[in-house]
Amino acid sequence: MSHKAHKSHAFGVDIGGSGIKGGIVHLETGLLKGKRIRLPTPQPSTPQVVAETVAKIVESAGWDGPVGITLPSVITEGTVRTAANIDPSWIGVHAVDLFSGVLDGREVTVLNDADAAGLAEDKFGAAKDHAGVVLLLTFGTGIGSALIYRGTLVPNTEFGHMEVGGVEAEHRAASSVKDRDNLTYEQWAVEVSRVLEQFEKLLWPEVIVAGGGVSREAEQWVPLLTNATPVVAATLHNTAGIVGAAMAVRDHLKP
Ligand code: BGC
Repeated sequence: MSHKAHKSHAFGVDIGGSGIKGGIVHLETGLLKGKRIRLPTPQPSTPQVVAETVAKIVESAGWDGPVGITLPSVITEGTVRTAANIDPSWIGVHAVDLFSGVLDGREVTVLNDADAAGLAEDKFGAAKDHAGVVLLLTFGTGIGSALIYRGTLVPNTEFGHMEVGGVEAEHRAASSVKDRDNLTYEQWAVEVSRVLEQFEKLLWPEVIVAGGGVSREAEQWVPLLTNATPVVAATLHNTAGIVGAAMAVRDHLKP
């Protein structure tokens, strides 16, 4: 089966610590065409083997058009700058050249994972009815952030690394901290609120979108938050990164 590149669709790939997920995205609706394909992230997750896994996913969908790809990293001019939760050998790699090399030289965009999720939630998900500044935060191993105003992303914000009370926000309030320290939702919500209070003081978003796996249980902790800005749960769940990556390559974003 071959899916010839078509303007209304693009392919998105979301690279995470345990899985690499991809699919063909219908850009008008933000829905996947066909199934979401997932392969385990190779361990160690070094650049070449990860790139080959991405190519396998794209090939297995029979897709021959542009591909947008996320990494949990800061990306500037196509180059990986940070590797907070992936193999450190990514730092300094020109990710656009690497991926386009295993994908027959086709157009590739590489962007930060939270930035991609933010684009998707802003357009199709939890923030679609908000015209003001949207701050998306993904709570997982770390805290990822995306800052968007009227569809335009400010790429590579790294608010998860901001110090709050002398501790990096993600070391205080990522969902991995909740798991590690066996915190109740009540205890964890205190830490999350503290982080959100700091962010909102500096950014004044209209809405904060809470993403990441723990957003599936949002009703258990979002009502416990005490910060001022409304917090809404992400709605696209495991497709947000894929959809945002596809949007980014459609728009020729070059973070
Ligand atoms: C990284 C971000 C990433 C986030 C979520 C953080 O530790 O610095 O770039 O978006 O984790 O994966």
